[in-house]
Amino acid sequence: MSKLIAPSILAADFANLQRDIEMVNKSDADWFHIDIMDGVFVPNISFGMPVLDAISKHANKTIDVHLMIVDPDRYIKTFAALGSNVLTVHYEACTHLHRTLQAIKAEGMKAGVALNPHTNINLLEDTITDIDLVCLMSVNPGFGGQSFIENTYSKVEQLKELITRKSASTLIEIDGGVTNKNAKQLVDAGADVLVAGSYVFKSTNQMDTIKNLKALANS
Ligand code: DX5
Ligand code: ZN
Repeated sequence: MSKLIAPSILAADFANLQRDIEMVNKSDADWFHIDIMDGVFVPNISFGMPVLDAISKHANKTIDVHLMIVDPDRYIKTFAALGSNVLTVHYEACTHLHRTLQAIKAEGMKAGVALNPHTNINLLEDTITDIDLVCLMSVNPGFGGQSFIENTYSKVEQLKELITRKSASTLIEIDGGVTNKNAKQLVDAGADVLVAGSYVFKSTNQMDTIKNLKALANS
């Protein structure tokens, strides 16, 4: 399967959101990555349901929603209704992760689990075959534009080993500080989906940046 690029809308120009969404639609990107933050699980508040509703109306690619919120179970049906295709919850925010994963799938979405930089891969031993996507945080969640944590490469390798050993079909997504400097090494370690926020939206030619990142990831 080809490696996927998911621009993070957190870094878009919110005053020109439709323009930026149309740019992603036209680009070589594969997914829209949507960061929902509640100011409790992470020390920042991004945007909520009305904004996602507006994004969904224009986006014509897979909508990958990353919930950085406590008690995500309360909103699973809401995010399904808003057009989410992949719904990712944080391991650290779920007391009953297995039940949460089943609830996400019951709404027809792919179920993702995000791990903070300090959370060990081994904790997924008993759930990996139930998980469609693992989002490895390569920064501490809450803000765009942070520096990539180098320990992520080793976590990708450990996760890939777990997925292979358990014969799971889980995708590995990397989120935070992704650029042309680390994309190839991440893919070589086993990554399938690269989220990129600042690197795409702060660049002068966003379409070219996406195109080049996609080519690098698939080289
Ligand atoms: C961080 C978010 C990321 C963020 C990535 O909490 O989950 O998706 O938008 O942004 P960059 O690529 O700028 O690190
Ligand atoms: Zn994210």
